[in-house]
Amino acid sequence: MPAGRAVVTGIGSCLPPDVVTNDDLSRVLDTSHDWVFSRTGIARRHVVGPGTSTGDLGTAAGAAALESAGRRGCDLVLLVTTTPDQPCPATAPQIAARLGMTGVPAFDLSAVCSGFVYGLDVASAMIGSGRYDSVLLIGAETYSTIIDPTDRNTAVLFGDGAAAVVLERGTAGDPGEVLHAELGSDGGRSELITVPGGGSRAPHPVVDEASRYFQMVGKEVYTRAVETMTRSARGVAEAVGWPLEQIDAFVGHQANARILRAVGRRLGVPTERIVCHLAEVGNTAAASIPLALAWAAGQDRLAAGDRVLLTAFGGGLTWGSVALRWPGVTPVRAEVGLPGAPVAVGEGRPARPVVG
Ligand code: UT7
Repeated sequence: MPAGRAVVTGIGSCLPPDVVTNDDLSRVLDTSHDWVFSRTGIARRHVVGPGTSTGDLGTAAGAAALESAGRRGCDLVLLVTTTPDQPCPATAPQIAARLGMTGVPAFDLSAVCSGFVYGLDVASAMIGSGRYDSVLLIGAETYSTIIDPTDRNTAVLFGDGAAAVVLERGTAGDPGEVLHAELGSDGGRSELITVPGGGSRAPHPVVDEASRYFQMVGKEVYTRAVETMTRSARGVAEAVGWPLEQIDAFVGHQANARILRAVGRRLGVPTERIVCHLAEVGNTAAASIPLALAWAAGQDRLAAGDRVLLTAFGGGLTWGSVALRWPGVTPVRAEVGLPGAPVAVGEGRPARPVVG
């Protein structure tokens, strides 16, 4: 197979229909809309109902991305998530089967909130090496299943959702080209963001109930996120020769609007070029960057050829940035289907697509 450049050719998303507002949370927690909105930029978040899984959202988003790309399948399915349907097996093969792609390689990748930039780099390398012609890359999360609903420090921050892109082999200069990526990690500070129980170090049934839940040292993560995302994004922009004031869209991991503004200020990216989707969806971890991209494209804030700079920081610790040219695709939104059910991508159409 000839080597080539990875090019984004489709994007799709899926948000579960149920919405929880800050006011809803303030009725059950010692918090308020004003506190949450002023500290984070979050006003509401979507959450799954009982029985709906990350795989259900990821399948719908994957179908929507295939529809957007005008394809019925891909050579490889890669799911980035921290909230798989179960510890074993991986969720990606089930998504592949539900989308009619039984037989193709499929695996999960875990890099918490940096999952999508990690996935983009891996998918681009797979295509660039000449091994695969097309990859369906899905970011999907259901943090509502790992959040302690009584912990105001975390319960106000996260939401559920999924978004996906199709990457295909193209040539240098094509709209949608993934130009450069840089990734990093520091496992020495893994305790800053963790779900301590349920793995091999503290298997179920967990002794300490709190260890079932997501825990974060918010203040320290905030400081490190600002420093690391600034350094990482600057490095990638320099590597591709983009002056930062000429970035068309800066799409940072959507954890906190104050973090996005602080990073944008340090980089010198004009405020109106910072994409912030937090008010509607909160922090959706590995799904946050593709959800923000799909939303911005649906608002006509992204045009073909735009210089797009992605950057993320999250548990692991992990971080990374990617520079790409926007492909000028039409995003497709899908509604979540029946739990576990196959999703037909007949003639490139997912179940109940909504364009926009
Ligand atoms: O997704 C991975 C990456 N994640 C991030 O990047 C998140 C990074 N961290 C953050 O975004 C922020 O640190 C938070 C939004 C999590 C917290 O904001 P903060 O400005 O750092 O607040 P804080 O943790 O310093 O808390 C300030 C006060 C505390 O009260 P005292 O000790 O000053 O009396 C908290 O107990 O706010 C209190 N507080 C709340 N009050 C109302 C904490 N959570 C809440 C809440 N409602 N939900």
